[in-house]
Amino acid sequence: MASGSGSNFEALVEACRAGRPQAEVVVLVVNNPGCGAAQRADRLGVPWQLLDHRVHSDRAALDRALVTVFHERGVDLVVMAGWMRIVTPVLIGAFPDRLVNIHPSLLPSFRGVDAVGQALAAGVTLAGCTAHLVSEEVDAGRILVQAAVPVLAGDDRSSLAARIQRQEHRILPLAVQLAADRLAPQG
Ligand code: GAR
Repeated sequence: MASGSGSNFEALVEACRAGRPQAEVVVLVVNNPGCGAAQRADRLGVPWQLLDHRVHSDRAALDRALVTVFHERGVDLVVMAGWMRIVTPVLIGAFPDRLVNIHPSLLPSFRGVDAVGQALAAGVTLAGCTAHLVSEEVDAGRILVQAAVPVLAGDDRSSLAARIQRQEHRILPLAVQLAADRLAPQG
């Protein structure tokens, strides 16, 4: 699931193709027509679908449409790779412990929107990113992997976000592997 440029989506596809994690990205869903993520999917040869939140009556209706797509495609695990919509129990309940989000802060600091701007405003010297399981409380589910990123003198939103994203591309595939391992039958 992606809303924007799709750099995390692409990093995950490349990681899967390299065998770490041992997974296949079977479908991308985007909510913004013409977003970068859909263009990357075309280039990478990954099927994608548009579910535009503007044509759904509410958040739950959008999530019902998402669940339908994922069930049709036989999806085991769902990744919110820059999905800028709040999700509901409809999606969370359909993929318990199988819904991973990437967030550009060291949670539990700076939940919600504009986490990078929040970090800059707070004057922290260490920022970062978190891959976590999704729960009903926003940006509060079980943490899977984090990476710390220094805030440098003169950083603005864009320079810090770019440095954080390089780490996101590294930890998101690790988190997907961890989430899959947690689900795998033991023994
Ligand atoms: C990523 O930095 C991700 O952490 C953030 O959106 C960006 C998407 O970039 N997600 C959130 O802020 C979710 N609350 P991308 O489209 O290039 O992967």
